[in-house]
Amino acid sequence: MKSNDIRTKFLHFFESKKHQIVPSAPMVLKNDPTLMFVNSGMAPFKEYFLGNAVPKNSRIADSQKCLRVSGKHNDLEEVGKDTYHHTMFEMLGNWSFGDYFKKEAISWAWELLTEVYKVNKDDLYVTVFEGDKDDNLGVDQEALELWKAIVPEEKILYGNKKDNFWEMGDQGPCGSCSEIHVDIRSDEEKKKISGRDLVNQDHPQVVEIWNLVFMQYNRLANGKLEELPNKHIDTGMGFERLCMVLQDKQSNYDTDVFTPLIREIETITKTDYDKDEKTAIAIRVVADHVRAVTFAIADGQLPSNNGAGYVIRRILRRAIRYGYTFLGTRKPFIYKLVSTLVEQMGEQFPELQKQKNICENVIKEEENSFLRTLEQGLVLLESMTANTKEKTLSGKKAFELYDTYGFPIDLTSLILSEKNMQLDYEGFEKELQKQKERSRDASKTTTEDWQILIDDEVEEFVGYDRTEVNVRITKYRKITTKKQGNLYQLVFNLTPFYPEGGGQVGDKGFIEAANGNMTYIIDTKKENNLILHFAKNLPKDLNGTFKAVVDENSRKLTASNHSATHLLHQALRTVLGKHVEQKGSMVNSDYLRFDFSHFAKVSDEELQEVERFVNARIREQLPLEEKRNIPYEEAIENGAIALFGEKYGDAVRTIGFGDSVELCGGTHVKNTNDIWHFIITNETAVASGIRRIEAITGETAKEFLTQQSKSFDALKSLLKSKEPIKSVAQLQDENNQLKKEIEKLLSEKAQGLKVNLKNNIQEKNGVNYLVQQVDVDANAMKDICFQLGGEVDNLFVFLSADVDGKALLTCYISKDLAEQKSLNAGTIVREMGKHIQGGGGGQAFFATAGGKNPAGIAKANEDVLKYLD
Ligand code: SER
Repeated sequence: MKSNDIRTKFLHFFESKKHQIVPSAPMVLKNDPTLMFVNSGMAPFKEYFLGNAVPKNSRIADSQKCLRVSGKHNDLEEVGKDTYHHTMFEMLGNWSFGDYFKKEAISWAWELLTEVYKVNKDDLYVTVFEGDKDDNLGVDQEALELWKAIVPEEKILYGNKKDNFWEMGDQGPCGSCSEIHVDIRSDEEKKKISGRDLVNQDHPQVVEIWNLVFMQYNRLANGKLEELPNKHIDTGMGFERLCMVLQDKQSNYDTDVFTPLIREIETITKTDYDKDEKTAIAIRVVADHVRAVTFAIADGQLPSNNGAGYVIRRILRRAIRYGYTFLGTRKPFIYKLVSTLVEQMGEQFPELQKQKNICENVIKEEENSFLRTLEQGLVLLESMTANTKEKTLSGKKAFELYDTYGFPIDLTSLILSEKNMQLDYEGFEKELQKQKERSRDASKTTTEDWQILIDDEVEEFVGYDRTEVNVRITKYRKITTKKQGNLYQLVFNLTPFYPEGGGQVGDKGFIEAANGNMTYIIDTKKENNLILHFAKNLPKDLNGTFKAVVDENSRKLTASNHSATHLLHQALRTVLGKHVEQKGSMVNSDYLRFDFSHFAKVSDEELQEVERFVNARIREQLPLEEKRNIPYEEAIENGAIALFGEKYGDAVRTIGFGDSVELCGGTHVKNTNDIWHFIITNETAVASGIRRIEAITGETAKEFLTQQSKSFDALKSLLKSKEPIKSVAQLQDENNQLKKEIEKLLSEKAQGLKVNLKNNIQEKNGVNYLVQQVDVDANAMKDICFQLGGEVDNLFVFLSADVDGKALLTCYISKDLAEQKSLNAGTIVREMGKHIQGGGGGQAFFATAGGKNPAGIAKANEDVLKYLD
């Protein structure tokens, strides 16, 4: 069974059990400060488990793209070394939100595995939670009884909290789980040791394939558990492992999910997967990582120096260095694998097809730049180890290479061993630990439990229509961060505050109690569909009604920039072409920033054209056409632009200004006329194939133009001219003319000097020599040397100069002479440089030195004569 069929069968099975089949959510998470990437199938549904939103359908199934590289579930360093860990993987899952529970989850899992996929029942083992004293929980009796009805008792194992109690984070929904494991070893091996003894023992052929989580508790900040009002099912089956089982392979990497990539890597790098373990590991690392990185970029996450972008950069760099060290690659090659990946998975994940070029460009550019870093690191390592008798490189130095230059520690160790040197691993680990602690401290946040004031109220956002409204606080909690100290997060029954999202900053403002006391809202953010209002302190009395007021001025300026962003997007697609796609944006009250795919620098003419286009739409006074709650398909059919990497619900909102229509949740002007004017202030590159435009609108644009006009007036008065541009052009002409004249005079002077100097040449032991102070600059001295050298044989010239208090030395020796007499101009200037308290160098026939002591010139001129003896 091909992997694509295996996936389809899963989805069809749960469709037949009345589940809604949904596409995978993007792998990069937004609106969840506790998680950077989707790390399991349930992450995109957290809002339903937390009760912040109600799903339209209480039964859902999908295949979700996941990435496990940071945080609680982190597999990065394992990947490649064994045959079953991955950074990016697909998780097949079925969910019940307050609908069915353990009985159905268990029996359907069994039915699918044994009747549809026809996995041999004898090869399957199941686990049940054994209970935990600290949590005051006993054996999961319900699951046990259900399994007993299906499988013989010897197939059931008990598991502890680590293996059989699933928690999505330190706090939040959790519950016991039952895992299904499969033994795919040969009959012979099965006879030797029972599969039962190998469950959860990290055996590559006795592996967990499905985890059925029974969510029934909420973990509080104090570590205690409370019952959830509704019980849920969250199951996750590793797609790659399932393929291994069904395709009768010994490793995930032998399935058709990976083999096309592995064959391509072998071809490109001229290596053989079966050659030895090191090569195999490196090929697995590259095959795995190219998937993670390509999927992330296709979802809009570019490699960068911080946050999620840094994680992606680290994954890619890990692949590059495995290639560099074990596959001998010195040029970018990983980007070439994108084609193979797209061919194989593009149908299921169309974003890969659409984003292929960007993925290739970005990966290639990253490879180029990291390969340069590796080369620089090699030079640095060389200088750290040259001229040393030590046999060990200190942990501090190794850490400097690692931290400042991104030079991987295993490569350092490898190179040292080639030099018969060792690495102080312990010292390195200590430095690494110190750094980890520093960054952990800096980002440490403690979050207290929610204090509920009004239960069962689902928050409503009314900020599209109103910026002032009466609200009540339904719940609040305290958080403490290193950076900001104590903060409070407030949730209202309804809110006019826009939460940060879609590139737009969150609203600020205040809430006012009946007695006039005000509490300032310093920011608004969304977390798993809950709108959180940040305040430095709490209102004295939390009950009662508050007047919530959004800072309207800031909101207006922001709206102007947001609407201009849409017009800019349209302008770029019109002026540069339809290949332009939004790759990110940032909109606040000061300015807007827009990243987009485009292969070249945008020329000045194109930028002007874009500016003109946007300003023309502003002058057209296009009214806002907003549609709320329309079906996603209908919006797309009507030409609305959706962004890759955004998670859209079934019902969406569209924002239209004339022909520009986008899916968008932001706040906008009522008419493009409100934007007043649009000015591009900057155009730069963000990554290969990704450009960034920064621009201003409205009041800011007005202010900018006023300032420009003032500078222009100042220029006019400075130049005493009504036409300053013409005057500056004239000044430039004059300046060029004067420069030419000076150059001419200098060259005439040097010519005259040369003639004089030629007359001063003397002879000693067959050497024509000239030692003299000339007081011209270094270039002129060089010219003189080479000109004299062309005219006089066997020449030794030593010129010195005192230019603006700095001493210069120049030494020229005819090539033949330098060889015959073993004279070296470089050595001579270095030696003579001591007299002028300076240094220098060069080649055997020509060298220069500079120093800060012109008083030493005379001594140098005297001393240098010794070379002629
Ligand atoms: N959340 C569980 C896991 O990731 C099941 O989906 O294993």
